[in-house]
Amino acid sequence: MSSPGSRFTHVPDRRDGPIRTFHPRRSPLSAERSRALTELWPRFGFSVHDDALGTGPRDDGGLLDTAALFGRVAPVVLEIGSGMGEATAAMAAADRGRDYLAVEAHLPGVAQLLVLVARAGLDNVRVAHGDGLDLARRITPGSLDAVHLFFPDPWPKARHHKRRIVAPEHVALLRSRMRPGGTLHCATDWPPYAEVMLEVVAADPGLTNAYDGPAPRPPHRPITAYERRGVAAGRQITDVVATRTVHPPG
Ligand SMILES: C[S@@+](CC[C@H](N)C(=O)[O-])C[C@H]1O[C@@H](n2cnc3c(N)ncnc32)[C@H](O)[C@@H]1O
Repeated sequence: MSSPGSRFTHVPDRRDGPIRTFHPRRSPLSAERSRALTELWPRFGFSVHDDALGTGPRDDGGLLDTAALFGRVAPVVLEIGSGMGEATAAMAAADRGRDYLAVEAHLPGVAQLLVLVARAGLDNVRVAHGDGLDLARRITPGSLDAVHLFFPDPWPKARHHKRRIVAPEHVALLRSRMRPGGTLHCATDWPPYAEVMLEVVAADPGLTNAYDGPAPRPPHRPITAYERRGVAAGRQITDVVATRTVHPPG
């Protein structure tokens, strides 16, 4: 075994498997990120797909036991596609009363968030490696305080639209994991995807757009390097914020 990162298999992306919403990529790990994986994974990390790396504590029904995972009962925010973890770490640091469960398919992003967690001494962050939709299926229905989808891959080509995470069936799954009154917060720098986000939210029977159209930029959402690049390229940023209705179906 050459480095701790070599224990991690890549997230399965088989021809006959589910359509994934991310690019399968392998990238080398820096020494700092390798060290973070070695030292911090046992405390803060778990795998969505690989039992050998620990797939998180389970409750009686076989679902992820978030109270055991965080060591307390507190509102939980799920962030899918946390990238390099900048938004997760900053929001968790400013919001210690809630627990942040980040999930990222790209291992260097997982490791970088561990670095940030250690640097800021955060106790309210846990990081999963793998497909966030598979993780969502293992979350207790009606339990999440919020779901964050910040700058999900826009998959601009029409033949790739089926890979977009903001799609009716994925949003229905995520909404089912939210508590009534819980929030779904999406952001994108791709205007056609922003339109899709607004349409999907409007069509979902258990969500209500919190605004009449796009949301004003929430001051608590930090600017990530990804967003900065979008702005530098002249792209408009759109936030969409929706609430799970009190008497939702499913
Ligand atoms: C464009 S990046 C944005 C990252 C970050 N949210 C930001 O604002 O900087 C999208 C990220 O989502 C991840 N991703 C996409 N689909 C995912 C999924 N189903 N589960 C976990 N991660 C996913 C990708 O690997 C990528 O790192």
